[in-house]
Amino acid sequence: MITSHELRQKYLDFFKSKNHAIIASAPLIPENDPTVLFTTAGMHPLVPYLMGETHPEGKRLANVQKCIRTQDIDEVGDNRHDTFFEMMGNWSLGDYFKQEAIEWSWEFLTSEMWLGLDKRKLAVSVFLGDENAPKDEQSAKIWENLGVPMHKIAFLSRVNNWWGPAGQTGPCGPDTEMFFWMGKSEFPPESSNPATDEDNWLEIWNDVFMQYNKNAEGKYVPLTQKNVDTGMGLERTLVVLNGFSDVFQIDTFWPIIQKIESISGREYIESPEITKSMRIIADHIRTATMIMGDDRGVAPSNVDQGYIVRRLIRRAVRHGRNLGLKENFCSQIAEVVIKIFTDVYPEVNRNREFVLNEIAQEESKFRNTIESGLKELEKLLDGFRIALEKTGKVVSEISGKQAFRLFESYGFPLEMTLELANENGLKVDVNGFETAFKAHQELSRAGAEQKFAGGLADHSEMSTKYHTATHLLHAVLREVLGKHVEQKGSNITAERLRFDFSHPEKLTDEQKKRVEELLNYAISHDYNVSFAEMSVEEAGKKGAIGLFGDKYEAKVKVYTIGDPGEPAHVHENSLTFSREICGGPHVEHTGTLGKFKITKEEAVSAGVRRIKAILE
Ligand code: ALA
Repeated sequence: MITSHELRQKYLDFFKSKNHAIIASAPLIPENDPTVLFTTAGMHPLVPYLMGETHPEGKRLANVQKCIRTQDIDEVGDNRHDTFFEMMGNWSLGDYFKQEAIEWSWEFLTSEMWLGLDKRKLAVSVFLGDENAPKDEQSAKIWENLGVPMHKIAFLSRVNNWWGPAGQTGPCGPDTEMFFWMGKSEFPPESSNPATDEDNWLEIWNDVFMQYNKNAEGKYVPLTQKNVDTGMGLERTLVVLNGFSDVFQIDTFWPIIQKIESISGREYIESPEITKSMRIIADHIRTATMIMGDDRGVAPSNVDQGYIVRRLIRRAVRHGRNLGLKENFCSQIAEVVIKIFTDVYPEVNRNREFVLNEIAQEESKFRNTIESGLKELEKLLDGFRIALEKTGKVVSEISGKQAFRLFESYGFPLEMTLELANENGLKVDVNGFETAFKAHQELSRAGAEQKFAGGLADHSEMSTKYHTATHLLHAVLREVLGKHVEQKGSNITAERLRFDFSHPEKLTDEQKKRVEELLNYAISHDYNVSFAEMSVEEAGKKGAIGLFGDKYEAKVKVYTIGDPGEPAHVHENSLTFSREICGGPHVEHTGTLGKFKITKEEAVSAGVRRIKAILE
């Protein structure tokens, strides 16, 4: 048995031995990238460095990154899909390229000193080539020289062997992927490889050769530096190393399943339905806990990340009903999740109270929803009965419109309507529901596209201005409201900034006015913006604000607005206005920002406020 702790440590030790600096996991909620809700890969927080900015820790980095991918949420319940996962990764920022990346992957996978996987059970894929980039003969040759037989090297197209960008634009490139044999026979037949026999091979690692930038016009432009970005799935690798057939057996899942078993008094292997519901509850509460435990104060809501959290919790509650759970149970599961991850991601324990309270509240709210939905359904059933008495006509189907109304007005999911209809001997017009639902989605998609359009200007000039304005705002809020103010989240588009921070109450009109005044003062003073690289300790001594939670990074970038030699103070005639740990980019002079104006101030969750502001 190899544990998740052992595997993380092995990975980091291996890359340390190859002169990589170990960096911390970035938060799950990306900073300054409005085009995606979550960090989906380890490279995501490193985009500026892959594009050419210098990283304070050097050109070789490695870490274990918390990630979320929700596109396969409906697949959760089988033996391999999950929504929160950990990705082990190593990066070369314009340093080593294909030769070392592939050699080291092979060494880590097969050497007895490291994972010691059986070479006969490994296969790889490489990029087939297309009009944007050539066939990757070079990678194939490297694999062959390492001893991988040609029939275990599959050439696959862009759909399979091209990775990125993470958002709409950015670094990307051809990749080579590593697979482990999962078929019934002990060893794969000679003819079997990931191209001919996809289902029997499990991808465990991906080495991406990031040498292109996809620009806003959709063109692939060669980058000035050739990078390596790799991602190895912690969960899948644990499955392979331990010879499991089910990802829920690994140690970052199994205690959750056991807790669900003990709360419900049911058994994981009782029936396929029970297994599926337990997997969904385990996955969803695990993910919801990690999102809310991420220092950004995301609570269940109707928008963005909060909406995902809400959906996850509600789905878990619904599957709890399949296990006979009619009382709140989700926070008990969340406690197990917190315990599993406390050592690796201490922030989940720091935010323990917040997570447990928000989960319990959301669960209670949803149980009320279920109650009112049930009442509405009762009314429908009464109507059917009356119709029967008056006209003698038997109504045995809930119409699509009625089912959609239950969904839209009461948040009553179709699955629940189906379940209850079934209990009452009724059918539901599912096609009718879907028609109504699609019409509704068309409307929301129009809204989402508008949002995307804003996001396209990701690294544009306007976003950079808003980023610098965010630093000024952070400093000014700490002056006007007090030093308890801490950044809880930031989201920038080309049209506005949004800044979440800890503060217990609504801002008064005077406070808002003072914030604007001080900020516009800093703009009119036209401060220089510059950065220096230093140790976290030194940054602390210099009074830099920002995220100090990172336990790995020895060196960070510190941006100063004003004189880098002076301590930062927010007041008129101050020589230095702000000093903050940050990766950049920023404008060079504050005078270019324009006029700062607060457009909205509101609550996000208990103790967290949000300011939206524009530059005119
Ligand atoms: N960024 C690459 C992936 O997610 C490594 O697969």
